[in-house]
Amino acid sequence: MPQVTPEIPGLVRGLEGIIAAPTAICDLDGVNGRLAYCGYDIEDLARHSTFEEVVYLLWNGELPTREQLGTHQRALVAARAIPEPLIAAMRLYPKPAVSMAALRAAVAQLGLYDTEAEDVSAEAQRRIALRLTAQMPTIVAAYQRIQLDQPVIPPRPDLGHAANFLYMLTGEEPDPRDSRALDTTLILYAEHEMNASSFAARVAASTLSDVYSAVTAGIATIKGPLHGGAGEAVMRTLEEIGSIDNLEPFVMQALAAKRRFMGFGHRVYKSGDPRARILMSMAEEVCARHGDEKWYRLSRGLHEIVYREKRLLPNVDFYSAALLRAMGIPMELNVPIITIARIAGWTAQLFEQYADNRLFRPRAAYIGHGRREYTPLEQRNPGNSR
Ligand code: COA
Repeated sequence: MPQVTPEIPGLVRGLEGIIAAPTAICDLDGVNGRLAYCGYDIEDLARHSTFEEVVYLLWNGELPTREQLGTHQRALVAARAIPEPLIAAMRLYPKPAVSMAALRAAVAQLGLYDTEAEDVSAEAQRRIALRLTAQMPTIVAAYQRIQLDQPVIPPRPDLGHAANFLYMLTGEEPDPRDSRALDTTLILYAEHEMNASSFAARVAASTLSDVYSAVTAGIATIKGPLHGGAGEAVMRTLEEIGSIDNLEPFVMQALAAKRRFMGFGHRVYKSGDPRARILMSMAEEVCARHGDEKWYRLSRGLHEIVYREKRLLPNVDFYSAALLRAMGIPMELNVPIITIARIAGWTAQLFEQYADNRLFRPRAAYIGHGRREYTPLEQRNPGNSR
């Protein structure tokens, strides 16, 4: 096939810089490295908010009052359990399965048990969004335990969203400082404008397909290593490097091989990802507290050398790898954890999409053969087929 060239008039590869929808949710200033949800700076939300509060903000455009937050939290807690047949189905998934492939399958299956799944009315969308946001951690934790042949742990209603997830993973009540670190990480990952997975979810919704289908499209898309999948790839890179002494040789070899540094660079942020700055100091604290500073030191060293050599800055997926590792979370869960957070942003964007829908249907620049005569099968030579 001939290569598509950027010279084709109107062609914008990767839709770079194209504005595909209006939004009142995420304000991303790539030039100045600023990010805000519904007008609130990400630094303020990370410092003062909880994930549950941010979910309310993304869905309603306003921070909740104490009473509204209480009602919202109780509704999330009440929706945490997942259907027994789904747990039974997950037990039948092959082992080992890629964690994101299992999550994609499980969320698609979850829709089969929801009698409202096909209802795209505004009210049903909100109820489904609440259930999905509440159930996603339960699915991830249950599947992880099934993979390890351990009993599934039901959710605990007295714990917050992040703490309950850690509890369902291990069966132990987590250190409140770890719960808070995970909670803040979820806030940082909750929403990010027209990234590839949000776009995929919106494209599915733009056909008036249902919320589960749109979210499944989002999961399928965030899984890739150029998107959320970078979280796991960063940890694999740190393991490959292994020691501080190997940092410099690793980077030089990677540069010579024209390898991509996972967790570096961004399509929109050109002066740094504000989430990475917050995660850097969080990773330092969590790694030090757990006496597991190796991963932070390796990350810091890699950050410095890659910046020196390529002027590339870390993105959100870089320091979260060391942070989650120090908390004892297996790297296969890095992308599922991002998904647990991003469900909030996807669903908020789906509300916008359904409310002001226009079918996404771009064009492609045709670069194949001109019109030609059809050759019947018996007259075709091996040389003229492709
Ligand atoms: N490692 C090495 N080089 C990188 C790079 C990386 N992580 N990110 C960008 N570059 C280089 C490219 O090689 C390219 O150089 P060239 O012009 O000499 O070929 C230049 O920077 C522009 O890269 P490009 O791929 O066109 O930018 P993009 O906008 O498509 O890339 C990403 C955005 C995120 C896909 C890209 O930075 C990347 O692959 N990062 C690693 C994956 C990752 O961390 N993803 C999570 C994003 S939150």
